[in-house]
Amino acid sequence: MIKITILTLFPEMFVPLNESILKRAQEAGLVEINLVNFRDYAVSKHKNVDDVPYGGGAGMLLKPEPIFAAIRDLPQVSHDRKLILMSPQGHVFHQKKAEEWSAHQELVFMCGHYEGFDERIRELADEEVSLGDYVLTGGELAAMVMIDAVVRLIPGVLGEEVSAEEDSHSIGLLEYPQYTRPADFEGRKVPEILLSGHHAQIMRWRRKESLRRTFLRRPDLIKNLEFSLEDYSLLEELTLEHEEFARWRTKWQHLSPPPKRQRRSSNRNK
Ligand code: ADE
Repeated sequence: MIKITILTLFPEMFVPLNESILKRAQEAGLVEINLVNFRDYAVSKHKNVDDVPYGGGAGMLLKPEPIFAAIRDLPQVSHDRKLILMSPQGHVFHQKKAEEWSAHQELVFMCGHYEGFDERIRELADEEVSLGDYVLTGGELAAMVMIDAVVRLIPGVLGEEVSAEEDSHSIGLLEYPQYTRPADFEGRKVPEILLSGHHAQIMRWRRKESLRRTFLRRPDLIKNLEFSLEDYSLLEELTLEHEEFARWRTKWQHLSPPPKRQRRSSNRNK
């Protein structure tokens, strides 16, 4: 069970968390999601949460007092609590981060709004995280996306029949193409190999298609990949099929079968 708390000025925005799989996960007690409107912690008569920047400039900034007060008022249920600040200046969120967070007992998402926040608010955060390299009107949508990515990784949330292990990104590669019935849709046929029932060949085909997709669509992911011995022949095949692969050859060349073994097999053939 993970406890998630969201500090926001717009709790009504979080409707999507009460639908579908996230709704079921809450009902099953696998995750608890609490919303805290930190305007309730504003000290001024008019419940102001933002103010003009010192030194001048456009826009308003979130004041430190309401967020500090809201955090101090949270019941700390675990020593394993992570405070996460939503910000376009943070590290960009990715699948590894979702995996890491899904192992925590308590996550607190702090969502700013308006132009930005007082620098002292950063002191509260264990991590400052961005959804991507673009600026949103606030951290709420970013928090919802991250929460969705985390909650589906909690054991039991996706059900036993579905596994998150073969997802795109979980092994650093994009997922291979998938097909369901019919085997022939208006002349578009499912690849023969998938109908063959030959498990080892299907696994090989899937690995090859994952490599193909990743190299062609997301070359930025290649630098983080580690190839297995079995990948060598797949990558060599793909190099014959696509020019793009050749320039990455140094990444898998060390996996080439040792020449000694080749010599021995050619002797045997004599
Ligand atoms: N707030 C505004 N833009 C954001 C972004 N890209 N990620 C997280 N929080 C944000």
